[in-house]
Amino acid sequence: MKLSFLSPKGLLYGFRRKAAGQTIQPGDPGLPTHVAIIMDGNGRWARKRNFPRTAGHEAGLQTARVITQECARLGIKYLTLYAFSTENWKRPKQEVSFLMNLFYQSLQQVTSELHDEDVRIRFIGNTDQLPPKLTALLKQVEAQTAQNQRLTLNLAINYGGRSEIVGAVRKMVQKALEERLEPETITEEQFARFLLTTGQPDPDLLIRTSGEQRISNFMLWQTAYTELYFTSTLWPDFSPAEFRAALAAYKTRSRRFGGIKEG
Ligand code: FPP
Repeated sequence: MKLSFLSPKGLLYGFRRKAAGQTIQPGDPGLPTHVAIIMDGNGRWARKRNFPRTAGHEAGLQTARVITQECARLGIKYLTLYAFSTENWKRPKQEVSFLMNLFYQSLQQVTSELHDEDVRIRFIGNTDQLPPKLTALLKQVEAQTAQNQRLTLNLAINYGGRSEIVGAVRKMVQKALEERLEPETITEEQFARFLLTTGQPDPDLLIRTSGEQRISNFMLWQTAYTELYFTSTLWPDFSPAEFRAALAAYKTRSRRFGGIKEG
């Protein structure tokens, strides 16, 4: 009898099963506290099916819902989704207005569902520059869910990492002018309090779908020591099983934060 599980192929199979995230259980102490995701590939997903790009965004929205639920189920405390960057305004006007409507309508639909699940929704980005109706809704959603504790969902809309850092510098300079702040007293911790993620831990894991391997102006300050995970899966096809595979891969990483591992 051939012991296939001892053969290299069998071992590989065992590794793949593990990597497929089957070992990830709710409350696993090796889970990241904060996961950030660059949801990429909606347009390519649609094109492959001869659908308009907007159909890819609709499908991507469903994936965002499913992955948010999976985070809540597993006990992950923070999830940040990159929904619209400061550079995305360069897209055709029609696609931009489709996305603005999609944000508006989907938030109207899912907020009460997420609120019932004890999910806090926050927005990071230059939200004051969005259509006024959307800006007003975002404020309302943040206020409605402000006391929720199970999971914090940050939606990055009109977000840019450089813009966030410049915004933080502006606020800090303003404070310096008002309170005669001495430059040498400024620390990294103090500076981070002026960022849009103030009070939240930095992402432990950043996932980018669709095969692109870059950061694209996302959480530039906060990802200094974040583990990166890239997959060629297009965002609408990204499943809870693949999400758990990313978490399983994260568990195998040795995080040293520039130091060395003791022992
Ligand atoms: C990137 O794919 C995707 C976007 C710029 C939009 C992401 C928005 C959603 C998934 C909707 C989620 C909404 C909420 C409220 C969470 P792409 O269009 O750049 O794809 P491509 O690179 O294949 O063209």
